[in-house]
Amino acid sequence: MRKKLIAANWKMYKTPDQTRDFFREFLPLVAGHTRDEIVVCPPFLDLPAALEAAKGSDVGIGAQNVHWKEEGAFTGETSTLQLLALGITHVIVGHSERRQYFGETDDTVNLRLKMALEAGFTPICCIGEVLEEREAGATDDVLRRQCTRAFHAISAKKAAKLVIAYEPVWAIGTGKTATPAIAAEAHAVIRNEVTRIFGEDFAAKLRILYGGSVKPDNAAALMAEEEIDGALVGGASLDPKSFAAIVKY
Ligand code: PGA
Repeated sequence: MRKKLIAANWKMYKTPDQTRDFFREFLPLVAGHTRDEIVVCPPFLDLPAALEAAKGSDVGIGAQNVHWKEEGAFTGETSTLQLLALGITHVIVGHSERRQYFGETDDTVNLRLKMALEAGFTPICCIGEVLEEREAGATDDVLRRQCTRAFHAISAKKAAKLVIAYEPVWAIGTGKTATPAIAAEAHAVIRNEVTRIFGEDFAAKLRILYGGSVKPDNAAALMAEEEIDGALVGGASLDPKSFAAIVKY
């Protein structure tokens, strides 16, 4: 049995004060909830406030990106050393918004992923097709290509902590959720590709999250799919009650 991971991606929302307010309300709502692993990924500047607020709870704190070098002349980037020094355990890599607006490619996703794994983080590697690719019947090819390139030259041993998030780009922030069946089908394609790359044992243990307009009212149906091992939640994770309802689907 794979323990589900429910992760919040706050994107560029909330200040440190708003972060503290969130945890003050959220933690009591999920106290004692051990069925699923819970992680919150706030913006970088909110990480210290989130770590402080979540101290002593079972909620992990993750970053939304990480650079592939430990330090250097890389203005505006953040390194594994800096995140480790804070106590961060998880990191999102290759989110579609980074791919779409900030020039992230399959190759830079691969570099970031290698570094995150090397440094001991649990990376949540995001993949997913855009609407035109789905409509052209290219979804499976896109998912396979994104996996092959993201995991290039990484061994199964190194990749042990890897988590994948399947996030169809047409479902992100649009209110259009993939049906549980569509998501499960894509997850099966990804798991097959991961089997090819890392082997059967690895693929059997790998957690594949679904992301894209997950809400309290659709979480249960999505999580009921055997292929879906959790969720990466954007908009609906900003409100403590709504995110707690998703966690407790
Ligand atoms: P959404 O975002 O839940 O707001 O669709 C998901 C994500 O981008 O990770």
